[in-house]
Amino acid sequence: MAKRARRLGVRLRPHVKTHKCVEIARLQAPDGAITVSTLAEARFFADAGFRDVTYAFPFPPGKEEEALDIASRLESLNLLVDHPDAARRLDHSARGAGTRFPVFLKVDCGYGRAGVDPESEEAVALARLVAESQGLELRGVLTHAGHAYHARSREEILAVARRERDVVVGLAERLRADGLDVPEVSLGSTPTCSVVDRLDGVTEIRPGNYAFLDVFQSAVGSGDRRDVALSVLATVAGRYPERGEVLIDAGSLALSRDPGPTHVDPACGLGVVLPVDGDGEGRVTSLSQEHGIVRGLPDLPVGEKVRVLPNHSCLTAAAHDRYHVVEGGEVQDVWRPVRGW
Ligand SMILES: Cc1ncc(COP(=O)(O)O)c(C=O)c1O
Repeated sequence: MAKRARRLGVRLRPHVKTHKCVEIARLQAPDGAITVSTLAEARFFADAGFRDVTYAFPFPPGKEEEALDIASRLESLNLLVDHPDAARRLDHSARGAGTRFPVFLKVDCGYGRAGVDPESEEAVALARLVAESQGLELRGVLTHAGHAYHARSREEILAVARRERDVVVGLAERLRADGLDVPEVSLGSTPTCSVVDRLDGVTEIRPGNYAFLDVFQSAVGSGDRRDVALSVLATVAGRYPERGEVLIDAGSLALSRDPGPTHVDPACGLGVVLPVDGDGEGRVTSLSQEHGIVRGLPDLPVGEKVRVLPNHSCLTAAAHDRYHVVEGGEVQDVWRPVRGW
């Protein structure tokens, strides 16, 4: 992804919500510029020496004091707004503290989750409100094409990626034509950043999942199964030959219940199961809190170890309090992620 960013002429500001782990972020972002999904991450990475942090969530009112405290330890804590009330509250707190928050206008490029409608007058009015607020500084426009996950092929992802670019660059140009300064244009998801061919007008990308990849990325065509870097080690605890199933000691709390890419592979199940020693492949077909039921590997003996490749590595990683870093079959290190909000 770093090579792609260089080739496309943009900064890589990886989203560290995928792993929430300093050691991995240092590999991805030697310049210290990252994206986070919680203020707990912002604090943790600030303490670890990261300098330039974008909290990529429309700022939740009530957390202004916490944000001011974290910002005081950073060169830049960049915040998002998609509603004037949130912008006014941030402005009020920043002015009270005698400082300014750098703010991105969050833009909806078709995902339909959060962000202003880029065609609307409200988008321009909100950008102007931010630009003219004494406690805020309009840093730029920002979008995330999460609907790229609904794609069925690289071609479909490419269409979403081009639209993601066109929408956010188009709004930046409209705002500039209206007299506003818009230094940054930020976009990105792992699917779109993995396939996009041109990013003219964009200044930075924010993919996150690419650090691990998962079954979902390989199914929609934005990653290769052989490159999935995260798995959950589990043990076969029961065999049920009459049902062709085995039981593993990894349930929904260890794997998450993400349904996976059912639109491309209706039989994808809840994770891909690979024996540590031996061949074959199974699927997790049902989960309860600590129980996982696996089909496709009925002959695995009790006591055998398996690796479960997750449907969605970000959610699976968030279920664990440490990473065992494995190379050549040996555990080389243990890395600890941040937890909480
Ligand atoms: C605002 C925002 N930016 C970037 C990302 C990273 O996308 P991905 O996980 O596809 O790499 C996400 C992921 O949810 C996000 O919500």
